[in-house]
Amino acid sequence: MRKLKQVNHLMGLLRPAVEDILARHPSPVLVDAGSGNAYLGFILYELFLKEAAGGTLLSIEGRPELTERAKERAQRLGFTRMEFQTAHLDAATWPERVHLVMALHACDTATDDALVGAIQHGADHVAVVPCCQAEVAAQLKGKRPEVETSLGMLFQHPWHRREFGSHLTNVIRAMTLEAFGYQVTVTELTGWEHSLKNELILGRRVHRENRPARLKLEALLSSFGVQPKLTRVLGVTPATRTSPA
Ligand SMILES: C[S@@+](CC[C@H](N)C(=O)[O-])C[C@H]1O[C@@H](n2cnc3c(N)ncnc32)[C@H](O)[C@@H]1O
Repeated sequence: MRKLKQVNHLMGLLRPAVEDILARHPSPVLVDAGSGNAYLGFILYELFLKEAAGGTLLSIEGRPELTERAKERAQRLGFTRMEFQTAHLDAATWPERVHLVMALHACDTATDDALVGAIQHGADHVAVVPCCQAEVAAQLKGKRPEVETSLGMLFQHPWHRREFGSHLTNVIRAMTLEAFGYQVTVTELTGWEHSLKNELILGRRVHRENRPARLKLEALLSSFGVQPKLTRVLGVTPATRTSPA
């Protein structure tokens, strides 16, 4: 019952994005990145695509046994416009144009790979619920922010570094989407009592790019001396710091 409420809540959050792409594109491509058993895809297909004139749901998953099982289930159900690919997200064959990219608890930098795929293939909407983040915490180790404040205290202890690294990772993800022209909403997926991995980042593309947002992102990367996979792959580099006169 509780699970059902969570699924309904998630569908309510995704509904505007799905309805928007179905209204604007005759045959939109929805990608579920790091799809696991592809449950999200099956629910979306049942609710939105089954009766629609067109639209494909592509699940990309690294573990072949999960892809195979989901593929068989889709065949049994007659969900003919569900497609499956076994691949690491950063080596997957992405459709040239995608319309909605989702990644639910895709581990560590897999969320970054999903966002790169979305940005590089022009997704109108993205929805990610990040999972564990280790990369930025490791980059923060031994670093002090290059600013004359006590910000370094925020990640001096390993426990704080892990938590702060995770927070900073998601801030960078939201800011990167903004820099690439998305309007971003950060909200909670479900109550904290259900999952600690609860942050939902929603993006809707409204411009080709956003220069002021990009400058802020570059300044943030520079302040903390970090460069996560997302910004590395997209070629966003930390701002060069000039010494005060
Ligand atoms: C925690 S599970 C979540 C599965 C699904 N999204 C869900 O919410 O039920 C994370 C899934 O992402 C897959 N995964 C992790 N990193 C990946 C990568 N780089 N490329 C493709 N799949 C990946 C894992 O194999 C696993 O099935």
